Amino acid sequence: MPTLAHSMAATTRAARTVPVPLGGRSYDVLIGPDLLSEAGRLVAGRLGKARCGVVTDENVARHHLAALEASLKAEGRHKGSIVLPAGEPTKSFRELGPLCERLLELGLERGDLVVAFGGGVIGDLAGFAAGILRRGVRFVQIPTTLLAQVDSSVGGKTGINTPQGKNLIGVFHQPALVIADTDVLKTLPPREMRAGYAEVAKYGLLGDAGFFGWLEQAYDGIFSFDRETLVTALETSVKAKAAIVARDEHETGDRALLNLGHTFGHALEAWTGYSDRLLHGEGVAIGMCLAFRFSESLGLCPPGTAERVTRHLTAAGLPTRLSDIPGGKADAGELVRLMGQDKKVRDGRLTFILVRGIGEAFISRDIDEPAVRDFLAREIAAS
Ligand code: NAD
Ligand code: GLY
Repeated sequence: MPTLAHSMAATTRAARTVPVPLGGRSYDVLIGPDLLSEAGRLVAGRLGKARCGVVTDENVARHHLAALEASLKAEGRHKGSIVLPAGEPTKSFRELGPLCERLLELGLERGDLVVAFGGGVIGDLAGFAAGILRRGVRFVQIPTTLLAQVDSSVGGKTGINTPQGKNLIGVFHQPALVIADTDVLKTLPPREMRAGYAEVAKYGLLGDAGFFGWLEQAYDGIFSFDRETLVTALETSVKAKAAIVARDEHETGDRALLNLGHTFGHALEAWTGYSDRLLHGEGVAIGMCLAFRFSESLGLCPPGTAERVTRHLTAAGLPTRLSDIPGGKADAGELVRLMGQDKKVRDGRLTFILVRGIGEAFISRDIDEPAVRDFLAREIAAS
């Protein structure tokens, strides 16, 4: 058994610890610099004798796998590593089956751990594999993109894409621990960093006007890796997500607020074929601007609000309009059809996250499809 002193020592390097309170499935999100070198001790100190099967992608492996393996090996916790191709197509049935078989071949037992070491793609896929392997083994998230550190590693949504749409197959499976090392972000391509920033801004836009105001002043510090700014942005984001997940783990209500910008964004991702034309976070950025402009057009929020949001996301280097997507014009009817594949469709009606102002998102189920189509047609015509 790990001693208390061992366990305490293993947590001291985390600059911040955010608990995700879910009864017997509670866990901590540890945020701070240089945590990768501590991963072995953190796992040993908190999760007992488990050994780790690491799942990662080729980019993360190139930059950081040696450090993680050394840390796990130093504590005798490394069972093996599996390196998958990078990119959204990896979140698929094609990769899931062989991944499960390779985890079994590593000899991972019921009490062992899958370690999801990568961005949201690896987190969603490896988390899903952990959820079904031997009818469910525990897993640890070590997120390596900004998007994964503030969003996808927390809350237990796992899954894969199919030709019918994104994330339509999956399970809720909470991690046992999340270790967010801010230093690993330094190797992230700048475009990926910007895409992840959309999810940071989302927390301000959906429920915390003060945080959005702070981001308008401080966002540069995130991109220049200012330690205090980055840790504060991550902590505030993760706390916001943890609070929502704690009151609605399985998205029967409030958790849908986290999908601000996602109904539009997912349709745009499907329309661009989940390709490099549009990263997930970029789709969310455009989607959030559309949600604000749509809310404004319905008279739900004060004129000028959408412009303020658009101005900030543009300053952060994100796309904000349909015309910012390269490679051809969207069609309003096609986008509405793609929205129909959204998981949040109920009785054939779309669920939209709309806003009364910055930090005042709400769930709306009474929007008519023609109103959305007309709005999108106007957006396309104006672009
Ligand atoms: P990603 O996992 O594809 O990572 C983006 C790119 O960055 C990849 O090429 C990856 O190899 C590379 N990379 C990752 N970390 C790196 C690092 N430290 N240094 C250098 N390169 C690195 O993309 P993402 O944006 O992290 O995640 C997007 C996915 O997350 C989507 O599939 C989306 O649906 C999912 N998601 C899930 C949730 C959830 O709650 N489960 C929430 C939001 C998004
Ligand atoms: N990213 C949305 C959620 O976790 O619910």
